[in-house]
Amino acid sequence: MMINVQNLTKRFSGRTAVDGISFQVQPGEIVGFLGPNGAGKSTTMRMLTGYLPPTSGSASISGHDVFNDSLKARREIGFMPENVPLYEDMRVAEYLSFRAALKGVKIREVRSHVERAMEYCGLTEVKKKMIGTLSKGFRQRVGLADALVHKPRLLILDEPTNGLDPNQIRQVRSLITQLAGEHTILLSTHILSEVQMSCRRVIIINKGTIRADDTPDALANNLQSSGTVSVELKAAPAEAEEKLTALEHVRRLSSSDAGGGWHRYELRVEPGGDVRVDISELARARQWSLRELTQHNATLEDVFVELTQRD
Ligand SMILES: Nc1ncnc2c1ncn2[C@@H]1O[C@H](COP(=O)(O)OP(=O)(O)OP(=O)(O)O)[C@@H](O)[C@H]1O
Ligand SMILES: [Mg+2]
Repeated sequence: MMINVQNLTKRFSGRTAVDGISFQVQPGEIVGFLGPNGAGKSTTMRMLTGYLPPTSGSASISGHDVFNDSLKARREIGFMPENVPLYEDMRVAEYLSFRAALKGVKIREVRSHVERAMEYCGLTEVKKKMIGTLSKGFRQRVGLADALVHKPRLLILDEPTNGLDPNQIRQVRSLITQLAGEHTILLSTHILSEVQMSCRRVIIINKGTIRADDTPDALANNLQSSGTVSVELKAAPAEAEEKLTALEHVRRLSSSDAGGGWHRYELRVEPGGDVRVDISELARARQWSLRELTQHNATLEDVFVELTQRD
């Protein structure tokens, strides 16, 4: 087992940031760690990497306890923290060599390790530049190169695409996909599409507890409200709203004026029945004009909202 977390808890002066979470990650898995601001993602990652002692519970990396056997555990990990601390007045290659040596890479292997990390992260062209002169995206790449320079088996990346523009996000994402073959990866993010594209497993955390742990597709399929239905009608709005809300399986409804007497309704529906049939029959019975009736299946975004806003 690559990561084994048991009942891990962190309290900060009475406030519980991580509340007894447990999960395991097998070698080779790419796991997305998803949650809103303040959910406990960074706190968990900092405990896993030995930077923060837990209040209770345990965590181990490749069988090495991260607190009692922290040196061995840390050798296995490449960590990219939320705010990458970089030495602004060092040159890229120089900084990475320094970091490699610090992480125990043998002197004669430092150079090849650094070359490899720079190549992976597209840093070769800026290797002689001072870190302080690099753009945000390039600094982020230096942080990633730092995380992988000692060829760790496990990469723990805390929002690696945070603050990047869409092009840079793509580059970092494809880099992560490329790294996936050689490393086990635990990656936190706010960007749902990122998880859907690059991770085969998602752990959703909210208020310090794990709310879901599954594949992105299974999560979307098992969602309580299985999706939304869009309807456009020409009908008296009060009557339409009342009748639509009364249908079985409809949980919530929002409406907007679509102009020319038309109204648009978005219905949140539960699994179990096809409300489209009921709506078309209702429209015929009430003599409403109907010009759109579309079902949208739940996306990972719906799952996220459902699991993190319910309470
Ligand atoms: N050193 C600290 N002292 C006190 N409280 C802290 C400390 N670090 C984190 N917290 C609190 O713990 C909770 C979880 O924070 P954490 O940084 O783990 O969230 P996160 O999921 O990483 O959020 P974000 O998406 O904003 O990065 C927050 O309420 C935060 O204020
Ligand atoms: Mg964080």
